[in-house]
Amino acid sequence: MASLHDATRGRLLFGGDYNPEQWPREVWEDDVRLMHEAGVNLATVGVFSWALLEPRPGEYDFGWLDEVLDLLHSGGIGVALATPTASAPPWLHHRWPETSPQDPDRSVRTYGSRNAYCPSSAVYRHHADAVCAALADRYAHHPALRMWHIGNEFGTVCYCDGCAETFRGWLKRKYTDLDGLNEAWGTRFWSQHYSEWAEVIPPRKVQYVINPVQDQDYQRFASDLLLEGFKTERDIVSARNPAVPVTTNFMGFYKGTDSWQWAPEEDFASVDSYPDPNDPLGACASAFAQDLTRSLGRSTRAGGWIMMEQSTGAVGWREVATPKPPGLFRLWSLQALARGADGLLQFQWRASKQGAERSHSAMVPHAGPDSRVFREVCELGKDLAGLGDLIGTEVAAQVAIVVDWDAWRAVELDHQPHSGFRYVDRIYEYYTALWRANITCDFVHPHAELSGYRLVLAPNLYQISDEAGRNLERHVEAGGTLVVGPFSGVTDPDERVRLGGYPASLRELLGIRIEEYWPIPDGVGLRVGSAELGDFTAATWAEWFDQAATTARVLARIEDGPLAGHPAVTVNGHGAGSAWYLATLPEASALGRVLRRAAADAGVGPVLENLPEGVEAVRRGDRVFVLDHRTREVEIRAA
Ligand code: GLA
Ligand code: ZN
Repeated sequence: MASLHDATRGRLLFGGDYNPEQWPREVWEDDVRLMHEAGVNLATVGVFSWALLEPRPGEYDFGWLDEVLDLLHSGGIGVALATPTASAPPWLHHRWPETSPQDPDRSVRTYGSRNAYCPSSAVYRHHADAVCAALADRYAHHPALRMWHIGNEFGTVCYCDGCAETFRGWLKRKYTDLDGLNEAWGTRFWSQHYSEWAEVIPPRKVQYVINPVQDQDYQRFASDLLLEGFKTERDIVSARNPAVPVTTNFMGFYKGTDSWQWAPEEDFASVDSYPDPNDPLGACASAFAQDLTRSLGRSTRAGGWIMMEQSTGAVGWREVATPKPPGLFRLWSLQALARGADGLLQFQWRASKQGAERSHSAMVPHAGPDSRVFREVCELGKDLAGLGDLIGTEVAAQVAIVVDWDAWRAVELDHQPHSGFRYVDRIYEYYTALWRANITCDFVHPHAELSGYRLVLAPNLYQISDEAGRNLERHVEAGGTLVVGPFSGVTDPDERVRLGGYPASLRELLGIRIEEYWPIPDGVGLRVGSAELGDFTAATWAEWFDQAATTARVLARIEDGPLAGHPAVTVNGHGAGSAWYLATLPEASALGRVLRRAAADAGVGPVLENLPEGVEAVRRGDRVFVLDHRTREVEIRAA
């Protein structure tokens, strides 16, 4: 089987996106020399090279790429070769304008930037497949080739007539006939009943609120459609040499592609991650994406993950793009290793002199190798050279956070009770509390096997399948601890509200019954009293309980406003375990107390006890990484 493990050849991967086509040939020799100096062993090549590889339809120019690959190989540097299909050449759009994507209002996103293609266009697909096949015919057995990098950051969505037709095909497979679609989409509402398939269209620009299931199905379809494109390209390159592993770079918590569906289609996982150096919790944000990618890596064909892109300093796209101060690049890089990465690649090797990304940092900055940044790159290269035994070692977690793209899409549909209720914020709040407590966690799909975890957190499962409900119940019955966040268990996968009191399928498990949701305007704090957890302030959300039907133990109650006396935190014994419910969003310190308490009850502790705030500890294999994120200098004396 093609694996990341084989691709490493015993060395943690280190390098970055390499775009030699932006530079004259003299620079290439210099690049290889400097790569050596920095300990680089992998270069990602060809991500945006289509227009130069195929300057006219069917006319290929591989000469320059031959030279680049041979040069890298002679310098002992491996290659992650990209299929160049993320950005089609101008000729494709110019000759076949239907290959350009359309917005919901049917306006066209034309060429001159990148990533602008209609994913269901047969013309795009034909030319994309052809260039992939030509590339793979030529390089699938090149000695420098270590992995295939399919496309780049898949995410383009189009609403054209071609996509409408493809969407109808997807819907026919899902619902079989129009009756099924009408029933699932609830089209008796607002005169939306469909009588012919040709009437069914994507959720384009409309007069008022769009049908929610039409909207959600299109999001599911858009992810599936891109995945089809990924699989097509994967199969083209793999057929030429099955021993070379295949990946594509995810973007962490990116709503447009359901990573649980994508991961099993690749050989290992990879991620692009650009936390803001100005964010006081930047290290937490970066750990968040890393832990997701590690979790996704487990469901890939051969396992493992790498950081496919990060920056040595400033990015080109932030409104205020501050560089990383000395040491931060190294610190966040070591963090990724601690959390399971087998490689660290940066965007990009040499800073561009021209083009839209000319202000983005790189391993070789505009200042050249005689620079702070390049020296830090070389220093990290040395660190990595001594850590090869980390490859393939695991990060063990006893806690899992449930993440579900369907719940995410659904809770953010139009006309929800609180438009500011954002799914990833909910997940991140719980994650942050664990991160601050140095409790390691994985992310899981709601149907995942949970028996390996003592504590499972579901910060939000607004839309929930029956199977997910049973899975959570089994976990608690078997002695596990569960924490469920507010506004969960509300609808089924067709976005039908489950009736009879919320959170319908979780009511018995949680020992609660809720009659109404009670969003709170921004800026209003709710006082919550709790002898056991300490009093706190909550925001954004509260719930009206049927108190007579609530059998769970109430640990905290709201103290003011119309909900005074209603529960804010409950815990319910069920089977051999216990199930907590939070009906509100507690302030961060209080959420930390609740989750630490649930963890302690579940017998889960931090990686190291009594670490000061801002010091992170992660165990990988038999090593413990201790990462000090505080900005002031501290002296550490080894005993
Ligand atoms: C993304 C892309 C790269 C580059 C970086 C810049 O991650 O994949 O090509 O544009 O952003 O941060
Ligand atoms: Zn389209």
